Amino acid sequence: MAELRVSIKKSRLGSIQLHNHNSIQTNTNNMSTHPAVVTVAARAPLEIARVPTIEPTGRQLQIRVEWTASTPLDLHQADGGLLVTHPQVMGSGLAGTVLKTGPDVKYFAAGDAVFGFSFATPEQKAHQTIATVPETTMGKIPSGFTMQEAVTLPNNTVTVFHTVTKDLELPLAWPVPYLVQTPNKHADTPILIWGGASSCGQYALQILRHWGYTNLLTTASTHHHAYLKRIGARHTFDYRDADVVSLVKATAPGLRYVIDCIGSQSGSLAPLAQIVDAKGARVAVLLPVILKDATATDAPEYSMDALASAAWADGVDVRGVRTHFYEDNAFFKETLQSTIVPTLLAAGVVKPNKQKIVEGATLLERAQNALDQLRQKDPSGERLVWRVAEEED
Ligand SMILES: NC(=O)c1ccc[n+]([C@@H]2O[C@H](COP(=O)([O-])OP(=O)(O)OC[C@H]3O[C@@H](n4cnc5c(N)ncnc54)[C@H](OP(=O)(O)O)[C@@H]3O)[C@@H](O)[C@H]2O)c1
Repeated sequence: MAELRVSIKKSRLGSIQLHNHNSIQTNTNNMSTHPAVVTVAARAPLEIARVPTIEPTGRQLQIRVEWTASTPLDLHQADGGLLVTHPQVMGSGLAGTVLKTGPDVKYFAAGDAVFGFSFATPEQKAHQTIATVPETTMGKIPSGFTMQEAVTLPNNTVTVFHTVTKDLELPLAWPVPYLVQTPNKHADTPILIWGGASSCGQYALQILRHWGYTNLLTTASTHHHAYLKRIGARHTFDYRDADVVSLVKATAPGLRYVIDCIGSQSGSLAPLAQIVDAKGARVAVLLPVILKDATATDAPEYSMDALASAAWADGVDVRGVRTHFYEDNAFFKETLQSTIVPTLLAAGVVKPNKQKIVEGATLLERAQNALDQLRQKDPSGERLVWRVAEEED
């Protein structure tokens, strides 16, 4: 297969512009390049492109990307074209080894094993063998954890901190309040995590519990209930139960805080619109709203408007979560990934999602196999993780 050769133009959404489409060329400007997995069209097979290897400046790190974790956003982008300009390098969660540091880097040195959520420009993306990223998007992997384990955390722990503080407007103070003897005034306030078995749901339960929110309700398939109770849920419900709406309402009348970790128009927004009726109640929906799911045969459909996607009661405050804006919080920008997430992992507060390793003889095969498995919706609750750079790369 022909290799694509691309040059990178920066954009906040991480799209790249393709030049010399589908041609095999020698590099005319002597810039170093490395392989990246790219989308070339909606639902088309992925391809490998050679993209420029960027030298780190300022507070940047150049990282050999060894592992990534697939997320539903890969499918939203590859199949649904969500926020994509093809060809695009996907992937925003990576684990790897620091190769080089920019002159102003504070926290890292070459050789450090790191993990993080980095997404803003093409050179930061995970599905390429070398990434160049701001150091604030990385943390050191604590000893005792593999890269496969660590790489399940970054996207969705950041999502939880952003969602809870920005969209639910509930505090997650650092250091944790109990360390300074400040009780959580919301300790008994019911918070519903719709989709507790999702990666986001599991991290939401663990993080909220650690900060002293004890009245956590969640929905998930029944076989996950015992585990979800162990990691923080007080009440569990099966979302397929015909009575799920009345059961949740009876357990938490006047419910005021919800995180919808699923964002399915029929599977989560519709029941939530029946459950939540208190004026001022906040429902944070992880966008996109999925109107129609991607399958092996069908293209997906999405909406970015959570309010318009269900018949909400008057006065319910419905918010569409956009974690890509978490750096608007200057404290989180500096501290969340460099310090808070690694500390929580090291202390055992947050346990990595269970992983399933996606095999394949080449980078392209592994990336394609991962995408195919995302379409099949594995019910195990395991995170798909796969190797990016080979040992010998
Ligand atoms: N906008 C943002 O900032 C942002 C950030 C992160 C993620 N997201 C989005 O959030 C969604 C979840 O991401 P994720 O990585 O956490 O997902 P995930 O781990 O892939 O979620 C899979 C789980 O979803 C559960 N599920 C499916 N349908 C459900 C329903 N109707 N009700 C309750 N649970 C259901 C299944 O649980 P069972 O096994 O219990 O059936 C399944 O195990 C994705 O659409 C993602 O793109 C958005």
